Amino acid sequence: MPAERRPLVAGNWKMNGLKASAGEIGAVAQGYDAALAARIDLLVCPPATLVCKAAADVAQSPLVIGGQDCHAKACGAHTGDISAEMLADAGAKAVILGHSERRADHHESDEMIWQKAEAAWRAGLTAIICVGETEEQRTAGHHHAVVARQVRGSVPDDATPENTVVAYEPIWAIGTGLVPTPEDVAEVHGAIRAVLAQRFGEAAQGIRILYGGSVKPDNAKALLGAADVDGALVGGASLKADDFLAIARSYL
Ligand code: PGA
Repeated sequence: MPAERRPLVAGNWKMNGLKASAGEIGAVAQGYDAALAARIDLLVCPPATLVCKAAADVAQSPLVIGGQDCHAKACGAHTGDISAEMLADAGAKAVILGHSERRADHHESDEMIWQKAEAAWRAGLTAIICVGETEEQRTAGHHHAVVARQVRGSVPDDATPENTVVAYEPIWAIGTGLVPTPEDVAEVHGAIRAVLAQRFGEAAQGIRILYGGSVKPDNAKALLGAADVDGALVGGASLKADDFLAIARSYL
């Protein structure tokens, strides 16, 4: 991995976590010691209700807090939605966009995700843009084409290594305990990097590509060691500070 691509391990809490669970975020901040902070970036994305508290709680730590989605507009008549500006105001520095659960549950299209990414940048947030194929698409051998189309359609034109992270999450690996081989992951990440290079030239070498889908302490080292893998987007195993830190420590 080129020196400029500092690994990022990001936790996606999804719709989990009450005020009482905020202690886990404090424990992550405590475990994110100097050795780890010298090596990798660490991010936790709790539900929106906890962003403000979590960001305040870890203000003295290099641990960063992010959101899980944002609306494309800054404000207005959009009941129940949250803007990128609101997340930034609450202390978030990044936002996950286009997660497969949002693409499926909320019918989010590539075009919507593109607009949300531009909204994230407008508010000064890093956009973590998720892509990934279904089991049927993988079985049919279409995964490269599907992922390339998602990257072309949902990563906006002004992406830079600073404002954008891509997360490759094969849908069949999310929450299932199934994982692709490190070779499979490297192949797809290489294909994503090639699409980014067509779009962004040299800058593509600096854009981080995370792997997500059943990353656990016992498989992290192999998955994160694969070529072109610049970190992980971790769901279930990010809910417990010990497991999340164990994944992060696979870089040490
Ligand atoms: P998982 O979720 O680690 O629980 O598989 C990953 C994700 O959906 O971001």
